[in-house]
Amino acid sequence: MKILVVAVAALTASPLAAQEAPVQPPEQVAVEPEPTPPSPDEAAPDLPEEDGDGRIVGGDTAARKDGLWQAEIFTIGEGLYTDAEVKEDSAKLNTDLTKKGLSHKPKWEQSHRCGGALIPGNWVVTAAHCVVLPCPEKPCLAPDQFLQRRGVRLGTLNIDGRGQTYRIERAVIDGRYSKAKKVYDMALLKIVPDGKPARLDFMPVPIRILGSKPGDLPLMRNPNLAATGWGLTGARADGPKRPQVDREGKPINRASPVLKIVSLKLLPQEGRCQQEYPAAMIPQVICAGSKPGEDTCQGDSGGPLTRAEGTERVLVGLVSGGKGCAIAGMPGLYVNVTEYRRWIEEAKAASKAGRVVDYPKQPGTASR
Ligand code: ARG
Repeated sequence: MKILVVAVAALTASPLAAQEAPVQPPEQVAVEPEPTPPSPDEAAPDLPEEDGDGRIVGGDTAARKDGLWQAEIFTIGEGLYTDAEVKEDSAKLNTDLTKKGLSHKPKWEQSHRCGGALIPGNWVVTAAHCVVLPCPEKPCLAPDQFLQRRGVRLGTLNIDGRGQTYRIERAVIDGRYSKAKKVYDMALLKIVPDGKPARLDFMPVPIRILGSKPGDLPLMRNPNLAATGWGLTGARADGPKRPQVDREGKPINRASPVLKIVSLKLLPQEGRCQQEYPAAMIPQVICAGSKPGEDTCQGDSGGPLTRAEGTERVLVGLVSGGKGCAIAGMPGLYVNVTEYRRWIEEAKAASKAGRVVDYPKQPGTASR
């Protein structure tokens, strides 16, 4: 099944002025009107035939109760392509490996970067690699530029213009983060409403971390997990560069404007996980797998990995990395947030307004 669920037609702006909208969401979900029923997707006929059910990769459309704390990290300015760049991309041959099919990608898809999870006190947890700015050209941007170049969205399952947007007032990255080893991929963001009109579909609700209540069952005692995100919806091989567009010049792998959810199983750090990711098997990393054809993928990073605990859902991890997406038998890597409860408190104390800081401070950041 291809993605047919789509962008809810733009509604009139919510009467909630951005300034008045509570930053600290109440425990109860405000009873907002149901979103308008999905209208037929204009983009749907453009989607290439994909194997399996295209969602996250596989999986389903997420229900509101599974996305109350879901955050989107999106690009402001840089990363959004200019008309000239879109034109240049369209002019390329469809066999050109650098062709992105930009003319077929709406703004929301061009600007989407990562997921995140709202935790109490207007803090969002996400992956460190979502906070480190890419550096295609030297000199690279200063780390603090992240605060100007990224925003956060909450209060919707639909990233095509819905929800409330926030600016990032400060950020902390785990100073031990190593891209090469795929470890300590953890970051914390402080958010403030950015003053743009809100189009809330519901009031955001923070999620609590597994282990924050005395009766919580240990992580290892329940392997049934779920991940949510707006990332790529097609299986993806790992490795050398492949074409990004089909014979008609349309992008092969698309993100999803509506939040998707996929079931995952916690895996032991021995066996396949150890074989595939030997350097990553530390307590701060969770290895999890899925049925063939189901997985998280690019664009899901930083988003919540959750579990049922009694009647509520609790946060156990964040999407971090993996080889390809939805390759049979290939597990993925997730940040083990249950090992970060102390770090989060210390990182809040170490954070500085207008800055992206490393905590704990490392002698050098060369390992990144
Ligand atoms: N690193 C990816 C991102 O930035 C997430 C990859 C997840 N991959 C996987 N096979 N589970 O969005």
